[in-house]
Amino acid sequence: MTVEIGLETPDDVELIHRTNTVAFDGRTEEADLVDELREAGDLLLSLVARRDGEVIGHVAFSRLLIDTASGPVGGVALAPVGVLPGCQDEGVGSDLIRKGLAMLADREEQVVLVVGNPAYYDRFGFSSAVGKRYPSRHSGPHLMALVLGDPTTAPIGPVRYPEAFGLVN
Ligand SMILES: CC(C)(COP(=O)(O)OP(=O)(O)OC[C@H]1O[C@@H](n2cnc3c(N)ncnc32)[C@H](O)[C@@H]1OP(=O)(O)O)[C@@H](O)C(=O)NCCC(=O)NCCS
Repeated sequence: MTVEIGLETPDDVELIHRTNTVAFDGRTEEADLVDELREAGDLLLSLVARRDGEVIGHVAFSRLLIDTASGPVGGVALAPVGVLPGCQDEGVGSDLIRKGLAMLADREEQVVLVVGNPAYYDRFGFSSAVGKRYPSRHSGPHLMALVLGDPTTAPIGPVRYPEAFGLVN
């Protein structure tokens, strides 16, 4: 069955909350994070995956700030991404992430950070080594970065996450 990836609509908000809660095994922190980001105006891009019109997956990208030597520059945080358990391992999470990264590249975003398992995020080009250039309260082996566009001009520096990320600390 075909999976369609598209922008969230107002009708999707509750379904996104439910999808993330189920994907994260009943935890609501990630679902609440998406709601808080949306309410705070920090949600940069929110994509849903639909099969037969039903929401089966979701990914959120939000605005963070990179404190470069010449001042703060916008970057992007990828979090969370969730796919309903019955629909996992079919490429839906990858489709959501790849589509989101392509849309961010089109918008000339330069840096995307993610905290997660390198075994999963490596395939999209995220790197723990590059992640070390972006120290923050999420620093560690699970912090990875992907530079979109020209790496020689990418902003580098300490990172400030949106306040809502306090929910998942
Ligand atoms: C992580 C998640 C979004 C991946 O979505 P998906 O549609 O199942 O993933 P895909 O089909 O695109 O990719 C499947 C691959 O991801 C791997 N994978 C899935 N979850 C993983 C994890 N937590 N860590 C490492 N690898 C993982 C699978 O082993 C599989 O690997 P393979 O391609 O080498 O066989 C989904 O499993 C999910 O919702 N998990 C629960 C919520 C979660 O942990 N989100 C990520 C937080 S960082």
